[in-house]
Amino acid sequence: MANIKFVNEELEIVAADGANLRIKALENKVDVYKTWGKLTNCGGYGQCGTCIVDVIEGMENLSPPTETEKRKLRKKPDSYRLACQVQVNGEVSIKTKP
Ligand code: FES
Repeated sequence: MANIKFVNEELEIVAADGANLRIKALENKVDVYKTWGKLTNCGGYGQCGTCIVDVIEGMENLSPPTETEKRKLRKKPDSYRLACQVQVNGEVSIKTKP
């Protein structure tokens, strides 16, 4: 099982291994988009880059970065991921809208 802790929201949820981080956030009413992203996001296809999250702990429990993420996050800190591209396989702490 994957425990996902959303730091800003003070919310911890349990998900099945391999759960998509963006979907789990939205299912639990955790907003991963800033204002502009709410209107323009690509719906989870890795195209818009608006679903960025900061991984505070547990990067090793996430799926490796996809080629899309590597391209979109080229100039961002290593702890940043695109929520829609991430599968969670264990305990992780996430900061939304970094
Ligand atoms: S929702 Fe567009 S890149 Fe993640």
